Amino acid sequence: MTRPLGPTLAQARSRSTAIRRALLAWFRKNARVLPWRTDPRDPWAVWVSEVMLQQTRVTTVVPYFHAFMLRYPDVKALASAELDEVLGAWSGLGYYRRARALHAGARDVVDRFEATIPSTIDELLSLPGVGDYTSAAIGSIAFGLRAAVVDGNVRRVIARLFALRSQQEASSVDLHKQIAQTLLPARAPGTFNEAMMELGALVCTPGQPRCEACPVRASCDARRLGLQDSIPAPLKRDASPVVRLIAAVVSRGDAVLMGKRDRDGLFGGMWDPPVFEQPIDPTWRRWLTKLRASPGRLPAAIASVRHVLTHRVLEVDVLCIEARGDANPQEGAVPPGYQALRWMTAGDMRRCGTSSLARRVLQAAGLK
Ligand code: ADE
Repeated sequence: MTRPLGPTLAQARSRSTAIRRALLAWFRKNARVLPWRTDPRDPWAVWVSEVMLQQTRVTTVVPYFHAFMLRYPDVKALASAELDEVLGAWSGLGYYRRARALHAGARDVVDRFEATIPSTIDELLSLPGVGDYTSAAIGSIAFGLRAAVVDGNVRRVIARLFALRSQQEASSVDLHKQIAQTLLPARAPGTFNEAMMELGALVCTPGQPRCEACPVRASCDARRLGLQDSIPAPLKRDASPVVRLIAAVVSRGDAVLMGKRDRDGLFGGMWDPPVFEQPIDPTWRRWLTKLRASPGRLPAAIASVRHVLTHRVLEVDVLCIEARGDANPQEGAVPPGYQALRWMTAGDMRRCGTSSLARRVLQAAGLK
């Protein structure tokens, strides 16, 4: 059941002054010191940080942000880098599509906007990989545009402030966006957006919200009704399907055979020891068998790595294969899902993008 829009928006309007005042006073005292929160704000740093912060916690992002900005201090630096190298800098942060989109976006800014990050929402939205969230974040935080940022944290704060139970319904996204836009002040909208996100991250948390520390508790319907623990309703997620895979760690001296994933798809463009679906296709079983120094059947798996992704769980058996000295799998076909194969030393791997799954597999094989 969704509530009619009109009355809720009218409520948001009538409570907006109190909410803004209390929230901004709290944020002035409690904002975390973060490396992208410079004065004045650097649009490039805002862009990089907001892309990294999608699906990833602040504490994980901070060291990656520092290293990335040292390597790519401005949009031009990223635009002139090779994608492989950029994926290397992103290694371990996950969701590599974000790195590819940021790289494409940087190139577009250089090509179409003379390397100056555009300052209107429409122009920001025209960049590859920049959607509602990122355009509103860059627009408001770096350029003072009155565009509401609506991420999971903000949606939870809004759902509780107005006791909206239907967070899961698609129609509620629209309502949450309209409320967020109504609450947003014309002065320093970026600060207000950041304050809403900060409140969601630090106080109005998913588990047990810290209502006693909340600056807007007097304006909160969920708290008034004692519903802060049941709003938003927990996500009804089907159990993620389990996919069974085999990772072949083929070593030759101090090098390991690494495959570069196809561009599109899981871990697109990243390097990892070739991974096959179970049961492994006879063609690829023969291919692996032929690489072996000692003849005969493939060895048993030495470990299994469980890798949890957003929509599926990968159960990866790790197979260690000692290759013949003259084995040269780079000539000929590459396994399905890959575009290239290469022998790599540990040093080579550090310079390329390797997924966190790859690192876990290599560790399980005793190689890292
Ligand atoms: N999460 C994502 N972006 C954020 C920001 N700018 N401030 C606080 N938390 C965030």
